[in-house]
Amino acid sequence: MSDSKEKFLSDVFLTLREYISESSTSELVTKVSRPEKLKQLIPEIAPEGVSDEKLLSELRDILEHSVSTIHPLFVNQLFGGLDEAAWAGEVLSSLLNPTMATFEIAPAITVIEKRVVTELLDRMGFERGEGIMVTGGSNSNLLAMLCARTEYSPNIRLTGFGHNRFRVYASAEAHYSFDKAANITGIGTQNLVQVPANERGEMIPEELERILSADLKEGYVPIMVGATFGTTVMGAFDPVPKIARICERYKVWLHVDAAWGGGALFTNKHRHLVKGIQLADSVAFDAHKTMGTPLITSFFLTKHAGILRNANRGGGSEYLFHEYDNSDWDTGTYSLQCGRRADVLKFWLLWRAHGTQGLIRRTEHLFDLAQYATQEISTNPRFKLIHSNYLNVCFQVQPRDPLGDINSFTLKVRKALVREGRAMVNYAQRADGTIFFRLVFPNHRTEKVHVAQLLRIILETADRVDIV
Ligand SMILES: Cc1ncc(COP(=O)(O)O)c(C=O)c1O
Repeated sequence: MSDSKEKFLSDVFLTLREYISESSTSELVTKVSRPEKLKQLIPEIAPEGVSDEKLLSELRDILEHSVSTIHPLFVNQLFGGLDEAAWAGEVLSSLLNPTMATFEIAPAITVIEKRVVTELLDRMGFERGEGIMVTGGSNSNLLAMLCARTEYSPNIRLTGFGHNRFRVYASAEAHYSFDKAANITGIGTQNLVQVPANERGEMIPEELERILSADLKEGYVPIMVGATFGTTVMGAFDPVPKIARICERYKVWLHVDAAWGGGALFTNKHRHLVKGIQLADSVAFDAHKTMGTPLITSFFLTKHAGILRNANRGGGSEYLFHEYDNSDWDTGTYSLQCGRRADVLKFWLLWRAHGTQGLIRRTEHLFDLAQYATQEISTNPRFKLIHSNYLNVCFQVQPRDPLGDINSFTLKVRKALVREGRAMVNYAQRADGTIFFRLVFPNHRTEKVHVAQLLRIILETADRVDIV
């Protein structure tokens, strides 16, 4: 490498290091700029390249005009924060830049991925099984539908559905990726049946059974129930032991979307939340949601060894999947993708750095934050607690004029929060139309002082916002 490129790289790393260390104390989580301003700031693609100095200054502009998702007051979505070891894994992954299709091109990392998958299967209580990393919890849910379809009829990938009228069931609170998966797999979104949930956001098993048996009488073919551990808004955990008994009775694949709620697998105190997970046929788990790895660190895990190869079979043998000594280790043959990033390195280095006990301590800290926030919100008359479960705390801040419209007030406060940029917390809407802040705790950099600071910021902002 030339001296100038070495200097460029070390300047880049220095800049990133400064960004990381400043981000925990910086006043702002986001500095919102209008698209018009950004269009002026961001240069057009040019016929000739620019100098390293210019590139570095443009890199700094990007950092300045991006949301700091690693800031402790970024509690907006189901990811956030930064762990140095996990980030090193991210850097390593793009530096080595293998594809996880074959053992030949990713030898050590294939062994690492298999080891992590085995460990996760074990934590779930699957005595045997297999798993693969995927491009997100959404795609893990998609893969579950493909597997359920394959389990029903291994030849469906060749023949299509024929006259089968498949149906899949998920609660009204389940993630929208089930809808997408029903679309992509050809099952059809009309055949994704919403099972009613109770007021805590949990699927009602009696309703599931009622709908399933009515569908059977109508000639539908139920193939999968998608239960959720940790729903996106309410953090609800569906009653999987009861749902599993129904799936067993009706011979239906049980997938548990534990993309968010899987964090409870890494706790001692809260492990009861994932009761029954070992009864699932497959599980989605996103380490980037609760473990503190960068996006994307997603796993699909199933107890049915061999199903992934059947569900994803097809192509590649003529140029990629050669017969060789280690071809048994190739993972590309049971992946939806061809090229696949070495995402596992993020989780691997994190796990190695903290050990299982460290991961447990870190996750229990997130639960402590949620409990603390719930306590602070429920004891302050300016707030109204709507719902609190797992790492989700849903609440409203009260307007000074109690007769004002709380929904538009909440939206105004949220808008002002984002505009001012001192904290980022999202909002959500319940089926009855109620709008509220959805505070979530995926961010391991967040401490109790930050929660107190966040609530103070929200109150200050609310006091400045006029009521319509
Ligand atoms: C419960 C649940 N499942 C699945 C997903 C999708 O995960 P991903 O963003 O990794 O695709 C989400 C995203 O927030 C989620 O909350």
